[in-house]
Amino acid sequence: PPLDEIINLHDFEAVAKAVLPPKAWAYYSSASDDEITIRENRAAFQRVWFRPRILRDVTSVDWSTTILGQKSSLPVYISATALGKLGHPDGELNLTRAAGKHGVIQMIPTLASCSFDEILDAAVPGQPLFLQLYVNRDREITKKYVQHAEKRGVKALFITVDAPQLGRREKDMRMKFVGDAGAKVQEGQKDIKQDQGVARAISSFIDPSLSWKDIPWFRSITNMHIILKGVSTPEDALLAYDAGLQGIVLSNHGGRQLDTARSGLENLPPIIAALKTRGPWPNPNFSVFIDGGVRRATDVLKALAMGASAVGIGRGFLYAFASYGQEGVEKSFQILREEFEMNLRLLGARNLSELTPDMVDASGLHQH
Ligand code: FNR
Repeated sequence: PPLDEIINLHDFEAVAKAVLPPKAWAYYSSASDDEITIRENRAAFQRVWFRPRILRDVTSVDWSTTILGQKSSLPVYISATALGKLGHPDGELNLTRAAGKHGVIQMIPTLASCSFDEILDAAVPGQPLFLQLYVNRDREITKKYVQHAEKRGVKALFITVDAPQLGRREKDMRMKFVGDAGAKVQEGQKDIKQDQGVARAISSFIDPSLSWKDIPWFRSITNMHIILKGVSTPEDALLAYDAGLQGIVLSNHGGRQLDTARSGLENLPPIIAALKTRGPWPNPNFSVFIDGGVRRATDVLKALAMGASAVGIGRGFLYAFASYGQEGVEKSFQILREEFEMNLRLLGARNLSELTPDMVDASGLHQH
């Protein structure tokens, strides 16, 4: 369908499913094992209800924010999704260009199809970018990569910590990997498994020995903000805080890692409660992001009201460029802008700082 018939982020998914080659659709849409967590990511948002306030003069509303010190036109960033060229010849550049034009922040994946420098070269001057890091068994490779990113102006490093081994995405595994154009192999990677889907074929360089003991080393090689992506428990949230990091992402990797892990939204209240034992919340020096299943401004507003700093979207934007390239991504931003404007008005909040915990009823979040 023409792009002007797309009216919400779900629509991009239906188009992507129809237009993508089966292998790309399998890699993008799949989640691990029985795909319970991926369904739960969406379902959890439906167990939180709004408590809208009235008569608050919502003539003008503002949903812009600051994420890790960087201006963002939306309280949403583009989360890292690997292998953009499986879905579109311009791959991740679709996201970079759209993000630069609209003041949105993109998290660049280690396993992007386009090279890191190609992506940086497609950015407009001063465009804020974050980097997602898979840590290589060869730490010299990781060190070079991180320091190069910092030199090129990347503002924050999101170390993925929920993937010491890639989950079994069975839809993807049923497709054999045979060196597709989109699948770039990382430096230092030796044993490419050809028979277990795209995900496993490209991920064998990831170091499963990564541990809390490595955190000081990361701190010593970069001055970028360091955020752990893939935290699920208050215990680990406090370890990250006490290690002096700048934030965490409550994420289950879009349901692609440990199946029947809880959704980020469900993990948010106990984690915010734990962090409040260390000081007032929100804390300007520590951010809590969530991702997984976010497709509507209402999803984002719920997470923000419950204490999240901002929210990541993976597949929503991925399906937008897989279907319509850069224009699709720009359209997805426009859709979100319109949803934020309307829903902030209906909720009685003129800006994001007026979103307070009492504007949601999360009492049913854990009951189902
Ligand atoms: C991902 N995600 C991901 N995360 C990461 O840290 N490194 C990566 O290389 C990838 N690659 C990747 C590929 C694809 C196809 C998907 C769908 C996801 C996870 C991603 O950053 C994010 O956590 C989820 O996508 C969020 O869930 P939604 O928005 O896709 O529901």
